[in-house]
Parts: sequence; C-alpha cells; structure tokens
Amino acid sequence: MSDSPASEAFVVSPMRDNWYQRCSYLGSTFALITTVSEDGQTNIGPYQLSFPFEVNTGRSWMVISRNTSNTATNVFRTHKCALNFIEYDADQIETILKLGYPGQTTAEKMAYNCFDLIESPTPGRESSDIYPKILADAFQIYECTLDIERINENPILRDSPSAHLLLNIDTILIKERWMKNVDGSGDEMPRIPLTYGFRGGSSFWFGEVQPAYKLPIPDMGANHELVHYEANRLDDEVQFTMEACKQLTGIPNAFIQQVLQGIVNQAKARGINNVNEAFIIELNKERDGN
Ligand SMILES: Cc1cc2nc3c(=O)[nH]c(=O)nc-3n(C[C@H](O)[C@H](O)[C@H](O)COP(=O)(O)O)c2cc1C
Repeated sequence: MSDSPASEAFVVSPMRDNWYQRCSYLGSTFALITTVSEDGQTNIGPYQLSFPFEVNTGRSWMVISRNTSNTATNVFRTHKCALNFIEYDADQIETILKLGYPGQTTAEKMAYNCFDLIESPTPGRESSDIYPKILADAFQIYECTLDIERINENPILRDSPSAHLLLNIDTILIKERWMKNVDGSGDEMPRIPLTYGFRGGSSFWFGEVQPAYKLPIPDMGANHELVHYEANRLDDEVQFTMEACKQLTGIPNAFIQQVLQGIVNQAKARGINNVNEAFIIELNKERDGN
C-alpha cells in the first residue's frame, strides 16, 4: 500500500462528549470574552465556537458555550460582552488554558490573569456592573449586546441545552496598525492564533502561526450570483434583486465595483431602494440614448 493520504482508508470516529474537538478536527480561531460577574468584576473566558451569524446584512455573531459558564451566566444577566481577539503569543497560552478550565470563579481567575484589562474607548461603554473592561493586548474587539428577543423567538436557540449567545455587534474596535489591511492597502496580517481543540482527554492543541500572505480573487468571470453578492454589500440602503443581477453578467471583474457603485448612486439619486430588472433595463436605455 502507498503511504499517500489519498490511498489511506477512512475509519469511523466513535461518538464522545465535546464531539467536535474530541472525535474530529476543528481548527479555528478563538476569542477571549469579557463579561461582568455578579460582584462587578470583569471575567475572561476563552471561546472557540464563535462565528459570524449573518453574512451580508445584520452585524451579528454566535457564541456557543456550555450553559453554566461564567460567560453565559453573565451575558444572560447583563446582555453585554466584549469579544477580544488576541495575537499569538506563546507566553500567554498557558494562562489562556487556565482561563478555559471550568468551575472557577471570576475572582479565582483574575488572581492569575496576565492580560491587561482597560476601559473601552467607546462613549457610554465605561466599565460598570453591566459593561466589561476590554483587553489592551487585543488586535480587535467586538462590543456586543445579546439579542434576547431573537433568541426567545427562536426555539432552537431558546431551548438548546447549550447556551447559544446570539449577539449584535455594537462596535468593532481595531488597533490602528491593522486598519490598513481592512481596506486592502496593508501587507501584514495580525498573527491570529489557532486552536485545534482538546485531544485524548488530557491535552489542548494550539498552532504556531506563520506569516499570512495574500492571493487575488480568481477571475472566473462575473456570473449573476457574484454580481448579486458584490452589489448587495455596497450599500445597506440599496439592495439588488437576483433578476436585476442577471442583466449585469459578463462585466470584467476589474470594473464590477465601479459599475455597481454607479447604479447604486443612480438609485439613491432617484430615491430607489430596490434595484430590480426594470430599473437596470431603464438605465441601459438611458445610457444607450434610447
Ligand atoms: C482555546 C479554548 C477554546 C474554548 N472554546 C470553548 C467554546 O467554544 N465553548 C465552550 O463552551 N467552552 C470552550 N472552552 C472552555 C471554556 O473556556 C470553559 O468552559 C471556561 O470555564 C469558560 O470560562 P467562563 O466560565 O469564565 O466563561 C474553550 C477553552 C479553551 C482553552
């Protein structure tokens, strides 16, 4: 038999608790979530299961926690938390592991915490018995509010044996040096740490990160779904229908943004929020002078 991975047989991984990390591989980033404990102290909990909940519209986030964690208890009481994304630093990993050990009170955790807790710069978010402090070391922070209404409306979230914290992101804070990359002009990425989860009942795995590099989006030609995706993230107030986007295929990738922005500007100038097929046909006629 050859040694190549492709020729190796698949075997079934038996079911265990914490299945996603004990029965399978899930490499992911993690956030250190700060919340306020009942006695008014900021608590820090590491969370891997932390993902965007909506893609285009709605700046929301999902954190999945065991339902008895300090974080879940605090968020359900205060409705507020901050997700602190930190860079890889080998010296901090041991503390992160300890912070992830269940059953500790906030006071016990804060006695060995190595992270510098500071006030949020966001007006109205000064630390209190609701608003937590944030981590000075974070390269990025999401300041969030629990969407308790949507959770209560949704039995899958409301009645789950895990805590599904559906969070609306109120503020995204980014350290100055990383803002360059957000608009695409920078050449350096934060060294985002990876966790590979809990293995064999005794060890947590973390990855040493390599410098990130950038690749251009492949030019596969602009089909209507791509146009729809690009068009609907340009402006919250102007949305394109799929039928409208079918009129806009074949535009070279290099010009899509410019063309779509032109249509958004036209729509706004005419007080139109919904760009449909008829509107595109009308614009084409005007452009062609018919
Ligand atoms: C890197 C890392 C990632 C973790 N991710 C999660 C997670 O996504 N969900 C969860 O319930 N527990 C997770 N844990 C375990 C929690 O951190 C643990 O339950 C801890 O007690 C939470 O702290 P808290 O009770 O102060 O909120 C993780 C632990 C580590 C070290």
